[in-house]
Amino acid sequence: MNRPALEGLRLNVPACVKHPRLVEWVAQIAALTEAADVYWCDGSEAEYQRFTEQLVAAGTLMKLNPELRPRSFLARSDATDVARVEDRTFICSEKKEDAGPTNNWMAPADMRKLLETGDKALFKGAMKGRTMYVVPFSMGPLGSHIAHIGVELTDSPYVAVSMRTMTRMGRGALDVLGEDGHFVPCVHTVGAPLEAGQKDVAWPCNPTKYIVHYPESREIWSYGSGYGGNALLGKKCFALRIASTMGRDQGWLAEHMLILGVTTPAGKKYHVAAAFPSACGKTNFSMLVPPADYPGWKVTTIGDDIAWIKPHDDGRLYAINPEAGYFGVAPGTNYHTNPNCMDSMKSDVVFTNVALTDDGDVWWEGMSDTPPAHLIDWQGRDWTPAIAKASGAKAAHPNSRFTVAATNNPALDAQWDDPQGVAIDAFIFGGRRSTTVPLVTEARTWGEGVYMAATMGSETTAAMAGGNGSVRRDPFAMLPFMGYNMSDYFQHWLDLGEKLGKTGAKLPRIYCVNWFRKGADGQFVWPGYGENMRVLEWMVGRVEGKAEGADNLFGISPRYEDLRWDGLTFSRQQFDAVIGIDKAAWQQELVLHTELFKQLEHHLPAELPATQARIEARLAQAA
Ligand code: OXD
Ligand code: MN
Repeated sequence: MNRPALEGLRLNVPACVKHPRLVEWVAQIAALTEAADVYWCDGSEAEYQRFTEQLVAAGTLMKLNPELRPRSFLARSDATDVARVEDRTFICSEKKEDAGPTNNWMAPADMRKLLETGDKALFKGAMKGRTMYVVPFSMGPLGSHIAHIGVELTDSPYVAVSMRTMTRMGRGALDVLGEDGHFVPCVHTVGAPLEAGQKDVAWPCNPTKYIVHYPESREIWSYGSGYGGNALLGKKCFALRIASTMGRDQGWLAEHMLILGVTTPAGKKYHVAAAFPSACGKTNFSMLVPPADYPGWKVTTIGDDIAWIKPHDDGRLYAINPEAGYFGVAPGTNYHTNPNCMDSMKSDVVFTNVALTDDGDVWWEGMSDTPPAHLIDWQGRDWTPAIAKASGAKAAHPNSRFTVAATNNPALDAQWDDPQGVAIDAFIFGGRRSTTVPLVTEARTWGEGVYMAATMGSETTAAMAGGNGSVRRDPFAMLPFMGYNMSDYFQHWLDLGEKLGKTGAKLPRIYCVNWFRKGADGQFVWPGYGENMRVLEWMVGRVEGKAEGADNLFGISPRYEDLRWDGLTFSRQQFDAVIGIDKAAWQQELVLHTELFKQLEHHLPAELPATQARIEARLAQAA
């Protein structure tokens, strides 16, 4: 421990903290980073008020018009700090092959030298002139046996404020920790130490960024960014990358999945967990409003991004949403695509990188058909439709976000905070594919479902760094979030299915969906959004053993007459365009699956190429 740096620094440990290991670690990091002060967050409303006032005074947050958007704020990040940085994200397992071919890897000792122990280690003195906030948080309902505790040390009050919305943060988490409870240590700095007298900037960050995970010791170290998943370490870093390794070791699943409840007119409730890559509408699907001609059907949200799923003694899989809020992409959200989300954002929101209207409210592309005549864009510059036409400048950054508590959601499921979780009836996997993949297919077996998920792909969009419309394979929508070797993760899924299968309990059904097929005119054929209820109804019907379907190449799909069409004009021809199997496209698709399997060959379960061979044989027979 760096004793000289600790001298004179009070750790300010509150009386309620009874955990010597936690205090020792806080002291160590305070010494390493030379933080000017240490503040322990209690998660109270009063504390939130104080932090937001402080952030307004610092220029990080701007208060929005309280009549239009009560208790809400706008933050503008540094223009270079706007997204997760996958190329700066590392899984530092002892062995490179344990991180697998889809992750950046560095040996833990080398990374520690770079971050902590070397002469010029980045964390040395990184918090000079700043307060280090101790942010204890529970991922999942407090005390739930599916939940786990983390503690983030951060020099960003914006992060502390966001963690209060996104997790169960503060005193409650400390109480669960008790005297020796396990926590995942998460260290975060924006990497912008302040020398004596140096004036701060509104969004401190550093051009050098490292988002580092040590799976064996279950630690997270994040340097240089104040944005989203780089900085709110409970989300992607803990709840997916570290938790996936915990799940592998302890026999459970940490998944990039929304969780929803769907209640039928007969009052039966089912639970569905669905994995889609980023920017494929997870939040929209989790808050789906059924069409007007679906009386009695109700969809309720348990989570919009992440699911932790553990097997129970009854042989079923129970899921919780480890998060307590939504950190969603704003552009494209409107009263057609997601009315519940729009209503969730009426008050108590922190927006980041959206545009500011002249009356002190927010706007983003897609919020309304006609943009306001004048805005201040996400970089603080004047914006008008004419400027946008001339320069292509977006008013809101394509990855601009809202941060809001789950309790703001009018469609929040009554069991969203249930420590027991909800029993999962179906898994859905889906990507954005303009061709090839049918609207919906049910796997005939667990193994076929794992194949669907493992080979999932999605077209990159222009909003993504390097996005150009090509298909990026994104197994289980976990590509940027896997904490270990992808093929070992496939095996983990297969093993879990086998284990559950032996209990005799009903396994969740597995579906592959694609809302995004386009016609010859380049337009989406399927109307999507609330109309996805038609597909969800079919899935529920399958779970109940009522709905019919027909074999397709890699599972069972509905025929036209198997879906309900009341209130929607959608012809048989249109249906064929979203459900059909194009032989040539599938031949090409299977070549890409082979390429993927080659990349993932280390520990690739034999069951996957065997399933592929069966699909190939079926395809060869198809007309
Ligand atoms: C997210 C993502 O922010 O998946 O949820 O990128
Ligand atoms: Mn996500």
